[in-house]
Amino acid sequence: MSREKMIVLNQIVKQYDRKIALSSLSFAVEKGELIALIGPSGAGKTTLLNILGATLQPDSGELLIDGKPLQHYANQKIRAKKIGMIRQQFDLVGQLAVIHNVLAGRLAHWSFFKSLLSLFVPQEKQSVIKALERVGLSEKLYERTSTLSGGEQQRVALARLLIQKPEIVLADEPVASLDPARAEDILGMLSRLAVEENQTVIASLHSVEYAKKYFTRLIALKNGELLFDLPADQVTDKLLKELYQLKELD
Ligand SMILES: Nc1ncnc2c1ncn2[C@@H]1O[C@H](COP(=O)(O)OP(=O)(O)OP(=O)(O)O)[C@@H](O)[C@H]1O
Ligand SMILES: [Mg+2]
Repeated sequence: MSREKMIVLNQIVKQYDRKIALSSLSFAVEKGELIALIGPSGAGKTTLLNILGATLQPDSGELLIDGKPLQHYANQKIRAKKIGMIRQQFDLVGQLAVIHNVLAGRLAHWSFFKSLLSLFVPQEKQSVIKALERVGLSEKLYERTSTLSGGEQQRVALARLLIQKPEIVLADEPVASLDPARAEDILGMLSRLAVEENQTVIASLHSVEYAKKYFTRLIALKNGELLFDLPADQVTDKLLKELYQLKELD
């Protein structure tokens, strides 16, 4: 029996002015899959992740998340239980302490009043401390988030995701500003946690090496089209060369 379909895209099109960012993209993702989205700069990776995260509307095509159309997730609370996102700019509030940014991951699970209260009384502090320990930042609990380095902020965003526990994790270049050791550490953590929690992950990456090492399926975009969609161990150097080669002059 086939596994549960978590995401189904059917002929998704997105155009900015005259630039076609995604041209008729179709694929399906099963629950628990670990997918790396690869492809050259401008291929459409961020556009696709934003559409999957319901923060950007496609021009046409159909998108089902856990069997329901995107409109079902218009409510932010409903969406946050299902989908968690790490963006290229991590959506952290710079003026707030680290602990509050991480706690924001729980908002979808809280009542309105509890959410309001949490701005003054840090709740579920233990789980935040645990999440920050897991990303190696427990000593920064009360530091103002804007004073952290880019890589540290990336880890705060990951800690927030650990707290949010969404079924689907979307990550746009989650390790872009990390040194290689920390990048591998974060990717190892992301994939291990996803397996433990049976989460579905789609992450865009510029490193093919990391994509192959930490993900099971590679989806390659080029000029808004799907160039290949293969299990990680079937991606050949020839395909990668075709994916990243510079456009011939026309
Ligand atoms: N807001 C926008 N307005 C106009 N064009 C846009 C906009 N956002 C993206 N584009 C264009 O759409 C195409 C796809 O962009 P996108 O950001 O999805 O690429 P990407 O694969 O994420 O690239 P990168 O690896 O550099 O992050 C690019 O040609 C880009 O210039
Ligand atoms: Mg991008």
